[in-house]
Amino acid sequence: MTDLRAPFQLNDGVAMPRIGYGTYKVGDDEAQRAVEAALTTGYRLVDTAEMYGNEVGVGRAINGSDVAREDVFLTTKVWNDHHGSDQARAALEASLERLGTDYLDLYLIHWPSPKQGLYVETFESLLKAKEEGLIRSAGVSNFLPEHLERLHAETGVWPSVNQVELHPYFNQAPLRSWHAERGIATESWGPLGQRTGSVLAEPAVTAAAEAHGKSPGQVVIRWHLQNGCVVIPKSAKESRIAENFDVFDFALTKAEMEAIDALETGKRQGIDPGSNER
Ligand SMILES: NC(=O)c1ccc[n+]([C@@H]2O[C@H](COP(=O)([O-])OP(=O)(O)OC[C@H]3O[C@@H](n4cnc5c(N)ncnc54)[C@H](OP(=O)(O)O)[C@@H]3O)[C@@H](O)[C@H]2O)c1
Repeated sequence: MTDLRAPFQLNDGVAMPRIGYGTYKVGDDEAQRAVEAALTTGYRLVDTAEMYGNEVGVGRAINGSDVAREDVFLTTKVWNDHHGSDQARAALEASLERLGTDYLDLYLIHWPSPKQGLYVETFESLLKAKEEGLIRSAGVSNFLPEHLERLHAETGVWPSVNQVELHPYFNQAPLRSWHAERGIATESWGPLGQRTGSVLAEPAVTAAAEAHGKSPGQVVIRWHLQNGCVVIPKSAKESRIAENFDVFDFALTKAEMEAIDALETGKRQGIDPGSNER
């Protein structure tokens, strides 16, 4: 069985931790304290984005930490209004400046934004930045297979990662298989599925939590890991930041995994990436 504490090997040879700290809706003022707490807990992956407006605080935490920069896997994302070759390059340089670092471990195109039709040029800009050592790995977020196929057809490269909405109500089983066949890592956003409905109150989750003496949040995070996903839960609370990382001392049974898989609704909680809303 895969050692879930060991990093995920990306298709470009870069090693990525399987669990990270997500920072969406963590304001710039609180990001420093929250990321410091995450690093102290043991997280070695931090996920931010230019759109989150907290790169300064995230960078301060990493740069002020006892953990060496090379031991932290830092991800940020280019926002939709910076698609295109020159724009994406300028956005990368601005993110590096705010983060106070000279390289990223992973840079993602936040959304394909098909209405602009510029995601291929944007990805080419990421590949160039990778060649120059500004980013170690080039990935995407919210891409559908049609967008990924086009990137591959035009650049010959599959992105290393596709970060997508993924939780027990929308488990993306077909996309996960499609990614695996092409060596693309699946990273789950919104992993606790709390935007609409309450995954954490589902009997399949609470029963497993009770059986293992863990919390519902820990059960759902473990479900992601056992499904082979990289997972980036967010909490602003230090107690939950620690709780969400404490998922390596138990394993869900096949029956428990299947019961959580069966919560699938076929409905997204976020925007459809194929639509023109982004
Ligand atoms: N690429 C994209 O388009 C995209 C979109 C959305 C998110 N993301 C990334 O994915 C990360 C995670 O997604 P997310 O922040 O939307 O959602 P999430 O991590 O699934 O859920 C966060 C919510 O769950 C609560 N929570 C956290 N741990 C909990 C626990 N153990 N028990 C009960 N409740 C808990 C948090 O509240 P408290 O803070 O009060 O604890 C917060 O309200 C983001 O932070 C961001 O880095 C990416």
